[in-house]
Amino acid sequence: MEDTGGQELQMEKLKLAVAGKGGVGKTTIAGTLARLLAKEGHGVIAVDADPAMNLKFALGIKESPPPISELKNLIFERTGAYTGTGIYKLNPKVDDIIERYGAKGPDGVVLLVMGTIDKGGSGCICPESAFLRSLLRHVIFKGNTVIMDMEAGIEHLGRGTAKGVDLMLTVVEPGMRSIETVGRIKQLGEDIGIKNIAGVINKATDSEMIIEIERKLEELDIPLLGVVPYDPALIKADMEGKAPLDVGGEAVERIKGIKKKIFSAFV
Ligand SMILES: Nc1ncnc2c1ncn2[C@@H]1O[C@H](COP(=O)(O)OP(=O)(O)O)[C@@H](O)[C@H]1O
Ligand SMILES: [Mg+2]
Repeated sequence: MEDTGGQELQMEKLKLAVAGKGGVGKTTIAGTLARLLAKEGHGVIAVDADPAMNLKFALGIKESPPPISELKNLIFERTGAYTGTGIYKLNPKVDDIIERYGAKGPDGVVLLVMGTIDKGGSGCICPESAFLRSLLRHVIFKGNTVIMDMEAGIEHLGRGTAKGVDLMLTVVEPGMRSIETVGRIKQLGEDIGIKNIAGVINKATDSEMIIEIERKLEELDIPLLGVVPYDPALIKADMEGKAPLDVGGEAVERIKGIKKKIFSAFV
């Protein structure tokens, strides 16, 4: 696409990371946002960076692409790690990976599955993680819209990559544990240089609870971007193996509202 410098181009390049405790609704929200943006014609890359690897369901993709971390031969070849010297490249060639290993889904979304890395002790500096970090850096700094479904630890994001993220959306559900997790994520995010963090309340049931969580988010200095109600339609979608967007309902409507807010506030 031509560099027009216009609003449309900027929107084309939104980089969003979705994080939070397990089970709060990260994948549901990330997948639905990715599909909504793709429907509008944006070139969207959806990155599954959670070891649970279920973003494909939220996108409505049946055939999973291979988790990149499992492409050992490719990783060893590209990083030069096969020499057995213990020395490998930190900037391996990755520019063909989206094309080769991304899965095309509904509305043209492209899914990349990062996979898991066996860390074996404290903090792994290994070819696999060098490769995934390079790939994520490439994806972030390329001219696509990127929606990343993260894990609570946000570990795939290095400092360099974090700079390219426009907004980290933290998802909370009613309950203290998910709010504590968001507090930790905010700290981690700031440490690696994430510029903007906002919160979404998911699975909301009553207004008193919402006010209470809002207050907690305020204490953490995290602006609230939207509230998604608890919606049985999402359970139905899950049971039927359909993407939330293909089933619809109040939760999906609210996620549409969040998408609009992201653009007015951060892009
Ligand atoms: N607003 C909601 N209402 C009802 N169920 C929801 C809602 N959001 C998510 N869920 C369900 O909760 C479960 C966990 O959601 P998921 O998006 O996989 O969470 P995470 O990615 O944070 O682990 C899924 O079964 C999903 O269908
Ligand atoms: Mg998930």
